Amino acid sequence: MGTFDPRLFGARWADTYDEWSADIMDDKGAVDALADLAEGGPVLEFGVGTGRLAVPLAERGVEIVGVDISPEMLAKLREKTSAVTIVEADMTTVSLEREFSLAFIAFNSIFVLTTQEDQVTLFRNAAAHLRPGGRFVLETVVVDPPSPDRGKMAVVQVEEDRLILAGGLIDRATSLYTGTWVAMEPTGTKFYPISGRHVTHHEMDLMARLAGLELEHRWADWHGGAFGPKSELHVSIYRKPLSP
Ligand SMILES: C[S@@+](CC[C@H](N)C(=O)[O-])C[C@H]1O[C@@H](n2cnc3c(N)ncnc32)[C@H](O)[C@@H]1O
Repeated sequence: MGTFDPRLFGARWADTYDEWSADIMDDKGAVDALADLAEGGPVLEFGVGTGRLAVPLAERGVEIVGVDISPEMLAKLREKTSAVTIVEADMTTVSLEREFSLAFIAFNSIFVLTTQEDQVTLFRNAAAHLRPGGRFVLETVVVDPPSPDRGKMAVVQVEEDRLILAGGLIDRATSLYTGTWVAMEPTGTKFYPISGRHVTHHEMDLMARLAGLELEHRWADWHGGAFGPKSELHVSIYRKPLSP
């Protein structure tokens, strides 16, 4: 494990996660694509959180197991459904002793792992849980080289009694991003940490090779859009070879 406490994200974000993540991502496109890529087989989601994608996948009849390290995030998921099999564990080390048609990690969640070693271990663990021909799918923003001042600050939300700012700094030596959302309200200020290691799609391709996986597709969105120089998001689909 790296520098940060991996349970801190969930402990701080669980109560507001669904409200603040609503309508940011293409949930419907993701669910449609993931259901197709699973080809009717069982699915494993790493960093399942409150079940933004796992719940609608389960509602479509997909058998899904969700792994997450945060009891607070998983408590929110449990309130919604019993159709997702929930495993509270570290996704880099969890061993479920069964194979899946599809494993996935969405919404930049590979970044929550704060070292290259943990990220490589996740690729290996995904591969260990795939049947021959099974797929590992990741969705992240396209990572830009760190800007010269290395820092970013944004206004996320302004209401009369609430101001949410997001700020962060990237360490060029490690690609470690240390950031937080800060919500200021008359009752006080709360911090919502959002830190992790940024990893490019190029580095992911090497991690996949180390894990014995092959790049099958790279899309610019969940609809199979062509990936190119202007893409801001990537959906990368790796496949475990049919024979070793
Ligand atoms: C950005 S949230 C994504 C949640 C959900 N997949 C979604 O798309 O809305 C990342 C999740 O990863 C979980 N997480 C962080 N480190 C983890 C680890 N080492 N093992 C398993 N889950 C982890 C957090 O608790 C959090 O729920």
